[in-house]
Amino acid sequence: MSVCLVCETRIEPFLSFGKMPIANGFLLPEQFRDEYFFELKVAFCPNCRMVQLAELVDRERMFHENYAFYSSTSVRMSEHFRRFADWVRTNYLTESDPFVVEIGSNDGIMMQNFARADIRHLGIEPSSNVAQVARDKGIRTVSRFFDEDLAKSIVAEDGRADAFLGANVMCHIPYIHSVFAGVKTLLKPRGILAFEDPYLGDIVEKTSYDQIYDEHALYFSAASVSYLADRHGLELIDVLPQPVHGGSMRYVLSHSGAYPISDAVRALRAKEEQLGLAKSETYDRLRTSVERSRDDLRALLLTLKGDGKRVVGYGATSKSTTVTNYCGITPDLVEFISDTTPIKQGKFSPGVHIPVRPYPEFVSRYPDFALLFAWNHADEILAKEQAFQQAGGKFIGYVPKVGLCG
Ligand code: SAH
Ligand code: TYD
Ligand code: ZN
Repeated sequence: MSVCLVCETRIEPFLSFGKMPIANGFLLPEQFRDEYFFELKVAFCPNCRMVQLAELVDRERMFHENYAFYSSTSVRMSEHFRRFADWVRTNYLTESDPFVVEIGSNDGIMMQNFARADIRHLGIEPSSNVAQVARDKGIRTVSRFFDEDLAKSIVAEDGRADAFLGANVMCHIPYIHSVFAGVKTLLKPRGILAFEDPYLGDIVEKTSYDQIYDEHALYFSAASVSYLADRHGLELIDVLPQPVHGGSMRYVLSHSGAYPISDAVRALRAKEEQLGLAKSETYDRLRTSVERSRDDLRALLLTLKGDGKRVVGYGATSKSTTVTNYCGITPDLVEFISDTTPIKQGKFSPGVHIPVRPYPEFVSRYPDFALLFAWNHADEILAKEQAFQQAGGKFIGYVPKVGLCG
């Protein structure tokens, strides 16, 4: 039993993954002994409809000077954020001398677009290593966790904002009321909050349970975002589905009454009812699908091992930490994980300790199978790996179902 992070109703987990390590906690052998584990379990609140983690990890354990996630590793994501920034400029930066704030700005993948256009901006990024990469690109960045107090000091120093942005960061913040209160303080009368995160509807429809890990404290839907907005004098005015991260939703909010509410919001609310996102039974069904997915993937990997096939992981994603630990995927089943991020290479994956190797090792000796942990980048990767497939290599996926892909 725990208490809802949003409305304080008592809630119970519908799915437990057991002990899990920090998803981005890639480590060296001398660190294995002290590796940190916590209980990964998710709960649904029938009152405010927020799906959420039932046990939280301290933020300093996840976001620090050695944070392993650098946003700019994917070309497609850079393009995505260029389009996101263009959309903000065209639709919402219509007043003179506009000011844009982004939380979780990481290495500046989104903010670089505003900086290059000489638009007043501020990135807020607590992980100091990635924040420094952004500063080196000329992006004004403070290394702090955003909350209501920081919002007040920004208003005092820079004035109010026309746009407050966040991508894959709102869902990381369990003290969400402080963030929404801060947004309320920070926005100009016609200012907007636009944030995107993996969408609960996609997780349920695709059984993409690997979105569930320590950093993702909240799993948003239009219903739960509307509830939150309401509590802070804000309003959900638009929703725009995004193909990134395996299915995300961009939520646009403003001060209540500042803009008309789009038809898309009404349509999505209706679709969520149809999908059963308000019913506990839906989450019981999700648990059954997750367990089946785990059993199928394990069985497939054991068969391949029995047949003497080489399997290598593709992409040391945060998501893969849930999959490997939950399914018991150890180095005897997956030889190594290929990844292009320097800070992850030469280290071992959290919990199950599969070696993470630089990408050239994948290319120099193709395995029989590549387990596509970065399935959200399938288009980009399958297009890039024609030679692997022509050499007889095959990709294994597990979303929405375990099987070969490509
Ligand atoms: N927006 C980027 C990065 C997402 S990763 C992208 O979509 O690629 C999430 C980032 O949010 C991390 O860099 C983390 O350090 C940062 N973060 C976590 N909690 C935060 C908080 N309370 N305020 C601001 N940033 C936060
Ligand atoms: P990402 O999709 O952001 O997943 P998560 O949010 O679960 O961490 O991470 C993609 C990872 O895959 C990142 O470590 C970089 C790596 N990667 C490759 O190794 N090769 C590629 O071609 C791509 C697109 C990503
Ligand atoms: Zn609640």
